[in-house]
Amino acid sequence: MLGPALLAASRSPRVRHVVSTSPVSRSLVDRFVAGEAAPDALAAVRALAARGLLVTIDHLGEDTTERAQAEATRDAYVALLVRLADEGLAGSAEVSLKLSALGQALPGEGGRLALDNARAICEGAAAAGTTVTLDMEDHTTVDSTLSILAALRSDFPWVGAVVQSALFRTEADVRDLAHPGSRVRLVKGAYREPRTVAHVRKAEVDEAYRRCLAVLFAEGAYPMVASHDQTMIDEAIRLAALHGRGEDAYELQMLYGIRTAEQDRQVAAGRRMRVYLPYGQDWYGYFMRRLAERPANVGFFLRGLIAR
Ligand code: FDA
Repeated sequence: MLGPALLAASRSPRVRHVVSTSPVSRSLVDRFVAGEAAPDALAAVRALAARGLLVTIDHLGEDTTERAQAEATRDAYVALLVRLADEGLAGSAEVSLKLSALGQALPGEGGRLALDNARAICEGAAAAGTTVTLDMEDHTTVDSTLSILAALRSDFPWVGAVVQSALFRTEADVRDLAHPGSRVRLVKGAYREPRTVAHVRKAEVDEAYRRCLAVLFAEGAYPMVASHDQTMIDEAIRLAALHGRGEDAYELQMLYGIRTAEQDRQVAAGRRMRVYLPYGQDWYGYFMRRLAERPANVGFFLRGLIAR
């Protein structure tokens, strides 16, 4: 129950102030976030690539309410993609985008603005020789995100989707998205959702995850199995064998700083493992979701606060 309570508390400006200014946060943030600037992210990409890992880079930010900020995020991605290409890293790293950081929530024009900004990033990715995946945020954004995905895919068919097994609607979305060539990242879902739209019990989220995996592997999609849960990883490997998929016909994905030994173990076994690597100054929302996912992280954080 700690997770939902923490996600709710994270909306409070007071909690945000305490967490953002605590030196204890900084040390734990460093475990999950590569740094604040592009050179930090590039150094982390090089280190991960040297371990045989693939990477998807997230320039941290979300819930933007100003056009100028959305455009600054777009420009940061485009500049990052140029540097990835210049430094020969585009074969190892793609980028992940949150449409809410690109203006999706702006009244009236938000969808159009996010699409234009995402399109500019896709053009940068195409020039660099890499790909883009659209993160999925809370359930209120799913229709808008999927329609922006469809618009982008008409020019850039390699744009990846993210779907969350926690949402009731996702099994239908997965059937729509599971066609050949479609890159689909399956996650459990990190947002606090009302019980009218989402499974509440973890066992139900896990069962839905398995059903979605089965569809993605059975149809021609390129599954991106984003989970630290060993049961889901083993299930993906079983389904790949069942459907005669080679190691280049799907990939496993984990977040930076989580289960790193397992990441290396999968690479040693010859599998594709991609690490989701966030960087940037706006780490609060991302960090609070990582705390909420695992009570042990909260315990570590609180012990640090008390020890001070
Ligand atoms: P589960 O939560 O059951 O955890 C399984 C095990 O993994 C735990 O027992 C623990 O050992 C370990 N673990 C999980 N989380 C941990 C943490 N924070 N710290 C330490 N250990 C942890 N969500 C979303 O809503 N939209 C999105 O776009 C994305 N994008 C995304 C990309 C990638 C590559 C990944 C891996 C995940 C996401 N997520 C996401 C987050 C996702 O929805 C989910 O919240 C987390 O992955 C945790 O769920 P698991 O599948 O790992 O299982």
